Amino acid sequence: MTITTDTAFIHADQVGLSFPSVSDVLANVNFDIPRGQFVSILGASGCGKSSLLRVMSGLQTATAGLMLLDGRSPGNARENNLRSAFVFQDPTLLPWRTVRSNVSLPFELRDRPESEYLEHVKETINLVGLTEADADKRPRELSGGMRMRASLARALVTNPDLMLMDEPFAPLDDILRQQLNEEILRIWTDQKWTAVFVTHNVSEAVFLSQRILVMHPRPGRIAADIEVPFDYPRTAKLRATAEFAELMGTVSQELRRTVE
Ligand SMILES: Nc1ncnc2c1ncn2[C@@H]1O[C@H](COP(=O)(O)OP(=O)(O)OP(=O)(O)O)[C@@H](O)[C@H]1O
Ligand SMILES: [Mg+2]
Repeated sequence: MTITTDTAFIHADQVGLSFPSVSDVLANVNFDIPRGQFVSILGASGCGKSSLLRVMSGLQTATAGLMLLDGRSPGNARENNLRSAFVFQDPTLLPWRTVRSNVSLPFELRDRPESEYLEHVKETINLVGLTEADADKRPRELSGGMRMRASLARALVTNPDLMLMDEPFAPLDDILRQQLNEEILRIWTDQKWTAVFVTHNVSEAVFLSQRILVMHPRPGRIAADIEVPFDYPRTAKLRATAEFAELMGTVSQELRRTVE
């Protein structure tokens, strides 16, 4: 995949979203995200982060303004083979299927023959740190962290251009979250999809991203757009540096400002 960073891959122009029961869930949302960028979104509960991801994915249509993926509406972009993958906070694995057959699901739904995808499924399961033995287990036989790895595998197996992740690591303990942060960066560095990552965790946002969008509630809008200047690869050591702590302070301050 060629990575160009000078054109907008995701373009939001005055995006608004209202429901009959709730108006202005989003209003006047503007940003450009270049292809391959890792962006995190932070904001108070209910400020519209998940709604914004749904508009980017095409699951929901903006009721005002324009959302474009690679110059097309999200629905059109999908029809033109732009692949976006969604990772939800609660792993949405089918309980009666093994990890392997959950990860195979996108291909089964498209009626592809097994010979075409089984090797890729196996590689992707290994890529997220699950073993061959794990691949034959059902979700209830796995820990929360392993279920999340399986969910990531199911998203990654489609070779996405865009990974939309909605608080994927929220239920995990802090050490496991840090490990998964490092792993997701390793995979992103290798595959270079565009990442939009929603989190409530400031440290996670600073560690992962090149850029942080802070959202303001009621109506949901972008309150701050903060660049994260650290080079990749980022390792655990970064979290102990003064620069990291300083940027965390700046981001936290912006976040507090949105709820004052
Ligand atoms: N389908 C819908 N119909 C009506 N209102 C909705 C719908 N979807 C979302 N909302 C409203 O939009 C607002 C934003 O919700 P959203 O889930 O996007 O917030 P969020 O920032 O993701 O919150 P959290 O951090 O708690 O996940 C809420 O007030 C919610 O009630
Ligand atoms: Mg949400």
